[in-house]
Amino acid sequence: MKPPVNFHLVEHPLVAAEMTRLREADCPSAEFRQRVRRVASLMVPAVTADLATETVACQTPLEITSGKRLARGVILVPVLRAGLAFLDGFLDLIPHASVAHIGLARNEQTLLPESYYLKHPQRLAEHDVIVLDPMLATGGSAVEAVRRLREAGAVSLRFACLVAAPEGLAHLAGAFPQLPVFTAALDRCLDERGYILPGLGDAGDRMFGTV
Ligand code: PRP
Ligand code: URA
Repeated sequence: MKPPVNFHLVEHPLVAAEMTRLREADCPSAEFRQRVRRVASLMVPAVTADLATETVACQTPLEITSGKRLARGVILVPVLRAGLAFLDGFLDLIPHASVAHIGLARNEQTLLPESYYLKHPQRLAEHDVIVLDPMLATGGSAVEAVRRLREAGAVSLRFACLVAAPEGLAHLAGAFPQLPVFTAALDRCLDERGYILPGLGDAGDRMFGTV
């Protein structure tokens, strides 16, 4: 598969080591959440590397110098439920970000996302919006999340996940060719139930102990 134009695989030895433990079936929920949070934080520099900055005056104890700050506000959008632990790792490094929540549940028969919640701050167009969902499988949930946020006014959008399937990546890039997509792992394929192989199973269930 030829990767989409704006695809970024976040490669780092610490990320790779965390991902290995996350994939292991015997990793318990508490540890799973903690490690998802850690990978999320490790991904933040890559996901935010091109955010616009502006120059500001900065008074040190000795003199005035100049520094930089983010030119626009950031809105983080975890896709419920599994986006929540991912959110925590982003908030650790971008604590001033606002948070929008979008509730999507994949119908296990049709594999289509069913939307049940959306709450976002005003003026989405003035912010850089980062959609967070650990799993990009068929891509249905990611496409729906981005579509709903664009409909609500978001202009600058990017998507971050832990594990992407080639099928989901192609679906998302087909719907939004310019959307920047960041993942910690690009896996092989989907199985007949729409699960990512090798993957890490059902992220929400593993995160919240609902297996
Ligand atoms: C998972 C995951 C994504 C979606 C990915 O959520 O967190 O949102 O599946 O699958 P897709 O790319 O085929 O749409 P799920 O719907 O299982 O809900 P949950 O987080 O509440 O468990
Ligand atoms: N959702 C998950 O949580 N895991 C998968 O492998 C596919 C969809």
